[in-house]
Amino acid sequence: MEIKDSVALVTGGNRGIGEAFVRAFLAAGARHVYVGTRDVTNAQHLVEEGAGRVTAIALDVSRQETIDEAAKTCTDVTILVNNAGQFQMQTLMRAPDMSSARAEMEVNYFGPLAMTRAFAPILAKSPQSAIANVLSAGGIVAIPGMGGYSPSKFAARAMSTCLRAELAPQNTSVTALIVGSVDTRMAAHVEGSKETPAYIADVGLKAIKRGADEVDTDYMAIEVRAGISRDPKAYELQMRRSLSGERVTTGR
Ligand SMILES: NC(=O)c1ccc[n+]([C@@H]2O[C@H](COP(=O)([O-])OP(=O)(O)OC[C@H]3O[C@@H](n4cnc5c(N)ncnc54)[C@H](OP(=O)(O)O)[C@@H]3O)[C@@H](O)[C@H]2O)c1
Repeated sequence: MEIKDSVALVTGGNRGIGEAFVRAFLAAGARHVYVGTRDVTNAQHLVEEGAGRVTAIALDVSRQETIDEAAKTCTDVTILVNNAGQFQMQTLMRAPDMSSARAEMEVNYFGPLAMTRAFAPILAKSPQSAIANVLSAGGIVAIPGMGGYSPSKFAARAMSTCLRAELAPQNTSVTALIVGSVDTRMAAHVEGSKETPAYIADVGLKAIKRGADEVDTDYMAIEVRAGISRDPKAYELQMRRSLSGERVTTGR
């Protein structure tokens, strides 16, 4: 998949990893980048940086009407990055009700699914197209302290595999990016060394370019993968410690 001259749409592109993806697409010669953002004023800096190559579009991936509107506007997209995500800092049992677990599933699972359903016909117009889903190490090992977040990323990972098969006939690759720990607002509570958003976007673009199925984007993701391969039970027990309120650290 060529990045040069592509037209990308990045959900949650106004900050964090999404913002880094927008900049990486621009640097790699994308013809145009749509920044999906809940509030377009939050992406104004990227519109200015893009000098005519960036458009901010109002997009809340949990609201179907905004997705439909985006699909009507962005009819030339060749690469979709499902990056928007939520982590509500609740456990499944201690949360007062199920609203956080539902919101995480809505944004992290149903959001990318709804985006893919809306944009697949647009992607099909190109001889080659790509979808990248920004997932998490919490989608390959259950992290009890993250409540509904981990299950939502497991679901999104399974969805990526199913969509890869369903979209293969139209030449749309589906890449699952397994992200460990990155220095963004979402991981502000995590201590230790974290990867930069720019690094994740760089790895992500390379993965899209070669049509990879699944890629561990950073040190922590690779560590988690190794941990569950070495001794799955021991690793799961280790993850349980995150329930006991111990400080959360990347361990580096
Ligand atoms: N940071 C990490 O350590 C880490 C690790 C593993 C995976 N990830 C994944 O990486 C992705 C990006 O997260 P991040 O670290 O960059 O976090 P972030 O800085 O908190 O950014 C999250 C982005 O998602 C947007 N968003 C949230 N709900 C949305 C909705 N309903 N519709 C549209 N946009 C929505 C936010 O928009 P607003 O600005 O409007 O809130 C923001 O742009 C997420 O999928 C996350 O799960 C992050």
